[in-house]
Amino acid sequence: MSVQIDDLELLDAVRAFTLDHPHPEIERFKASMRDWGDTWQAVTPAHLPAADILGAGSASAHTRAQALLAVFKRHKNRLRWEQSYKQDEDLVPDEMLAGYGFAEIIGRQGPFVSERIRAGIAIWGPHIVYPCHRHEAEEVYILLAGSAEFTVGASGEHKHGAGDVIYVESNTAHGFRTTGNSLVVYYLWQAGDLRQQSKFG
Ligand SMILES: [Fe+2]
Repeated sequence: MSVQIDDLELLDAVRAFTLDHPHPEIERFKASMRDWGDTWQAVTPAHLPAADILGAGSASAHTRAQALLAVFKRHKNRLRWEQSYKQDEDLVPDEMLAGYGFAEIIGRQGPFVSERIRAGIAIWGPHIVYPCHRHEAEEVYILLAGSAEFTVGASGEHKHGAGDVIYVESNTAHGFRTTGNSLVVYYLWQAGDLRQQSKFG
């Protein structure tokens, strides 16, 4: 069973979460979210172990995120869970590939097709290092549950947890590492190639 057009619950949930979010860094993404597009395409579901963290991660969820997480949890087996990196590329540690995954809701490859904005959920298990990388699109991470030590630009490492919003300017190095907790993030990209492979180093 693939994601069908009747899954407007998913689209509605990510749009409402974005458009209603009061953090000033989300404002710049709202025009793209309002006019994301009007095309839908079926995606074939694909599972990754990281998707199963969704249930466990809800315990430390931020209040604002609970409704959105509940929708993702209901639909998690109908989503296409993906990874941007492959083991033989040696771009990220093997531990990351064993414990992370993302599912896109709006983006170039659907299910809700957009050339303007990319929106979805991404999950990392405990003790994972995501090395510093960058991409042309500007990005915002909205932490739904869990925590991690983030590095953005030259600011040094800072701990962030559920409810925090982290804005990353275009082509700015960013990365993080989880410690004892997993991390569940709602991400937005815009103003760049929405499927660009990140650059490292
Ligand atoms: Fe990024």
